[in-house]
Amino acid sequence: MAKISIDDMAGFCKKKGFIFPNSEIYGGMAGFFDYGHLGSELKKNIKDSWWKYHVQDREDVIGIDGTIITHPKVWVASGHVESFLDIMLECTKCGEKIRADTFIEEKLKIAADGIKADAINSLIDDNNLVCPKCSSDFKKAEDFNLMFEIQVGPKKDSESMAYLRPETAQLMFTDFKLVYDSARAKLPFGIAQMGRAFRNEISPRNFLFRCREFEQMEIEYFIHPDKVQECPYIKEMLDYEFLVYSASMQDNKKPAGMMKLKDALKNKIIKTKWHAYWLSVEHKWFCDLGVNPKNLRIRQHLKEEKSHYALDTWDLEYNFPFGWKELQGMANRTDFDLRQHIKHSKKDLSIFDQETNKKVIPYVVAEPSLGVDRSFLVFMFDAYTTRKDEKGNEVVVLKLNPKIAPVKVGVFPLVNKLEEKAREVFDLLKKEFTCIFDRSGSIGRRYARADESGIPYCVTIDFDTLNDKQVTIRDRDTAKQKRVKIEELIGELKKLI
Ligand code: GAP
Repeated sequence: MAKISIDDMAGFCKKKGFIFPNSEIYGGMAGFFDYGHLGSELKKNIKDSWWKYHVQDREDVIGIDGTIITHPKVWVASGHVESFLDIMLECTKCGEKIRADTFIEEKLKIAADGIKADAINSLIDDNNLVCPKCSSDFKKAEDFNLMFEIQVGPKKDSESMAYLRPETAQLMFTDFKLVYDSARAKLPFGIAQMGRAFRNEISPRNFLFRCREFEQMEIEYFIHPDKVQECPYIKEMLDYEFLVYSASMQDNKKPAGMMKLKDALKNKIIKTKWHAYWLSVEHKWFCDLGVNPKNLRIRQHLKEEKSHYALDTWDLEYNFPFGWKELQGMANRTDFDLRQHIKHSKKDLSIFDQETNKKVIPYVVAEPSLGVDRSFLVFMFDAYTTRKDEKGNEVVVLKLNPKIAPVKVGVFPLVNKLEEKAREVFDLLKKEFTCIFDRSGSIGRRYARADESGIPYCVTIDFDTLNDKQVTIRDRDTAKQKRVKIEELIGELKKLI
């Protein structure tokens, strides 16, 4: 479990320049956040790492970058216009509007995801639930579509109406044939995309966890519909171990348990090899970047939670200070989306299978769908630690993995007289790494500031440097120091980072 509350994390992020509330000088906008000087670098590093691991380092995943606004029929075909809904409760007196399922979960301590409006109304009546703001009664619960509507072009009529995309995913289906042909793809393969998504959340809350504007990193992984168990990569991951919380464990009130992938498959807890493979790959990406595996688990959706199109869905969850919550969704979407787009566009999106000489509509066996902002929060929570300084005060050490740390190296002259030499070292290093130069305050204060910003290595120039041409490298996590020749500094830091 994370060591600080979500509100304290929001305060820390604001103070250090990671995240600011959007348009704060005008009172702010709920659900919108700006990334500051450290936050924008960390976010970029997270996205770059994701793209490298999922697209550039793989032969079988192809990247695209589509638009935020697209033909409105895309969202009719995908089902979003009809069913991308949350249920809303509105107070009869003060007009307060709240999201019904989270309200019910908090008040009655029951799972309410996917619950319908009628059931919500009965629970409200049976338990005499009232508006949390003014204690008046609610109107009948009603559906609320989360898509932002916009007008495209100068006319303001129904024909110019469009939507800001609520997910990046659909363009991987609408562009499927173009990607398949132009990239000369062969099944199995994935299409990946990252970018902004917008949801008019009824009650945005928990800082970056639920925003109205956020970013996603998604893959649609297409396979031959008859080859759901033929995953050529599964061998690499069979001994991978993670915390598993299946639907049956949840139904039988059993705790989640550590399990190897091969056992989850043998015991049919995860149904397909492909789904199992992608779950482990996604879990591993977080662990490789320093997240403690004890804070991650994979949880299967219960029957009532599953979307209408999904054959099986698992979430990668993180142990946030407000409980285990979804970090990444991973649905087996079958051929639902391609079939929907075939039906609505009347275009042939099937491909020719040379083995059987037949046309096939590929299956999406897994859709790893991850929020950038939620990932950012996870890396921040997992890195957040404290230590006592020499005066006994508690100071923060943000132990971000060097690969994603926003600044890799801090360069400090021990005293201001040494600034010229220190600047020489800084100029040398900044060609290779994101660096900062800090000359103000005692060296202890500067180390503390660097620790709070997650800078993994600090390089200090002292009087001996002028003679022996060596500097001191200090490690953020151990506070250990070592002397290194300036001519070997870049190589040494590259090894460490
Ligand atoms: N294409 C499937 C899809 O969009 P989702 O479970 O609705 O699935 C995927 O969203 C991920 O996007 C979530 O696991 C979460 O990380 C992120 N996400 C969704 N809504 C969000 C919100 N309002 N604020 C921040 N991140 C969000």
